Amino acid sequence: MEGSKALIVCTSIHHKNTIKIANVIGNILVAEVIEPKDFSIENIDEYDLIGFGSGIYDGAHHKSILNLVNKINKQVDKKAFIFSTATVPVENFHKTLYKMLVEKGFEVIGHFCCKGFMDYHFTKYIFGGLNKGRPNDTDLKKAEEFAMKIKNSRKG
Ligand SMILES: Cc1cc2nc3c(=O)[nH]c(=O)nc-3n(C[C@H](O)[C@H](O)[C@H](O)COP(=O)(O)O)c2cc1C
Repeated sequence: MEGSKALIVCTSIHHKNTIKIANVIGNILVAEVIEPKDFSIENIDEYDLIGFGSGIYDGAHHKSILNLVNKINKQVDKKAFIFSTATVPVENFHKTLYKMLVEKGFEVIGHFCCKGFMDYHFTKYIFGGLNKGRPNDTDLKKAEEFAMKIKNSRKG
């Protein structure tokens, strides 16, 4: 039987920006937050909803998330949502992951993205980094509202 738990899989390596979003959403959905390496594909049927998120790297989610989704078998009646932090937070960066999830049979029911601090490469030396302090309290509040919407959509 299909389970009714939610799970969140998150990679957050640059400044631990995205894990802040994952934890807020996880609290509201009562969902465990794990890294891709700790995901047991054989237990996937325990979950009816899985959130996938990371920082954006060169226009897409981190490869550990994409590699994980690649390994998942075709799913039936499984919902997913996508979240990210980025220098320029646009849903367009979710495209690669979105397409992969749809191909795997997931119904993608929501997207969340917000700014994340970035001081990679020249941005460190010229500006001392971009998006200082992000995600901030307002971003976390928006993540909470996003999670509430997802939670309410599961009730029906
Ligand atoms: C190597 C590298 C590549 C990145 N590429 C992009 C990018 O293509 N677009 C963007 O908006 N941000 C980009 N960023 C910024 C990160 O997405 C941003 O800092 C994010 O919040 C990192 O999340 P994390 O701390 O959870 O890993 C990049 C950062 C790094 C270090």
